[in-house]
Amino acid sequence: MNILILGSGGREHAITWKLAQSSRPLKLFVAPGNPGTAGVATNLPVDPLDFERVREVILANSISMVVVGPEVPLAEGIADFIMSDSALAGVEVIGPCRAGAMLEGSKDFAKGFMKRHGIPTAAYETFTPGTFNDAVSFMRRMKPPYVLKADGLAAGKGVLIINDFDEAVSELREMLGGRFGTAGSKVVIEEYLRGIEMSAFVITDGISYRILPEAKDYKRIGEGDTGKNTGGMGAVSPVPFASPSFLEKVEARIIKPTIEGLKLEGIDYRGFIFFGLMNTGGDPYVIEYNARLGDPETEVIMPRIGSDLYDLLEGVAQRDLASRRIEILPDTAVTVMMVSGGYPDSYGKGFPVSGVENVTESIIFHAGTTMKDGRLVTSGGRVIAVTSLGPAMQEALDKSYSSVRKISFNGMNYRKDIGSDLKNRIV
Ligand code: AMP
Ligand code: GLY
Repeated sequence: MNILILGSGGREHAITWKLAQSSRPLKLFVAPGNPGTAGVATNLPVDPLDFERVREVILANSISMVVVGPEVPLAEGIADFIMSDSALAGVEVIGPCRAGAMLEGSKDFAKGFMKRHGIPTAAYETFTPGTFNDAVSFMRRMKPPYVLKADGLAAGKGVLIINDFDEAVSELREMLGGRFGTAGSKVVIEEYLRGIEMSAFVITDGISYRILPEAKDYKRIGEGDTGKNTGGMGAVSPVPFASPSFLEKVEARIIKPTIEGLKLEGIDYRGFIFFGLMNTGGDPYVIEYNARLGDPETEVIMPRIGSDLYDLLEGVAQRDLASRRIEILPDTAVTVMMVSGGYPDSYGKGFPVSGVENVTESIIFHAGTTMKDGRLVTSGGRVIAVTSLGPAMQEALDKSYSSVRKISFNGMNYRKDIGSDLKNRIV
């Protein structure tokens, strides 16, 4: 069984690492992959957005399953492309079709979907350049802070939370005026939710679903959740405040109605769904959907799956996920993301990374690294995710931070407080 994983980050390394442990005879390919995936699979120098090249490598390597890591190829219709090509008949895609990827690709679609299916989310309205004045009146009736969301994919930068009314109006004018290109041609304005965030994840074959470990990520660059938003500076799973009763509410009020809603709307969704949630007074609300797994959440989810990941993927391919089991380990997994100096603003690349070979008690997931003249060097903002498991969070954190101290590269930065907000939290 030959499997192609699309993407090049820590998420894709973690998926590939987990699949490499399958008891089934899998041959793994990653496009384009990174030096970490090269250790457990064959990297192919192909851009996942170059669908024709993806098609060529599927045929050349007798690929029978494609696992799509990032959102952009999904939103651009990679699943539809593969499934509609007769030469690729029988190739299964783990990742939704374009219509399913709209859950992430259009905030307006996602909000409308939740409204249609009674899924708890912040109250909202959607505006366009032609309804700018209505948007201003809407905001006048709201209490600050104002939450403005560009409708389309904006690489994690499309959400603004602003306290000042005049500033919110001027930001809205810029968003509708094209600051995010077509992604901002519609803007969702919604109620601000107070609480604590976490994320839930499922895999679905469009009929049933299996719940994966939940996670909490650390989005801001600075300790104490300060400074700019990043792709994610670390993650923890399980989430201590996600009690069994809270997770039951998540399943009953959010996961089940989402899967049923997709069926009712005729969207044959096969892949992962990421639910960004706010726990507001013990009740879950959806902040966002993603049509993929999270990064760095995947770096803590995969190590906590005790059973064979391929069995779940095969369940999706064969539409019999209901008969597949998932075993989740009780251990805590944490990951600390080591990033380039300057990130999330501009940063240098090509700095040699040393010490990775000295790490023995953690799992190294490569995110933004490459090989240059036989040396491992930095090639992105997020460079390496250092994941550890332990019977409790503190042991896992101790291992990750001790491993982090063995690794070095010019300008490296990391958050020293991953998980610390969860330590004394009452459930
Ligand atoms: P999103 O890209 O939708 O995940 O939004 C980015 C971040 O903005 C989220 O992770 C939240 O921290 C925050 N956020 C988004 N929507 C809301 C909301 N309605 N209330 C409070 N915070 C929000
Ligand atoms: N870590 C957040 C995301 O993957 O969207």
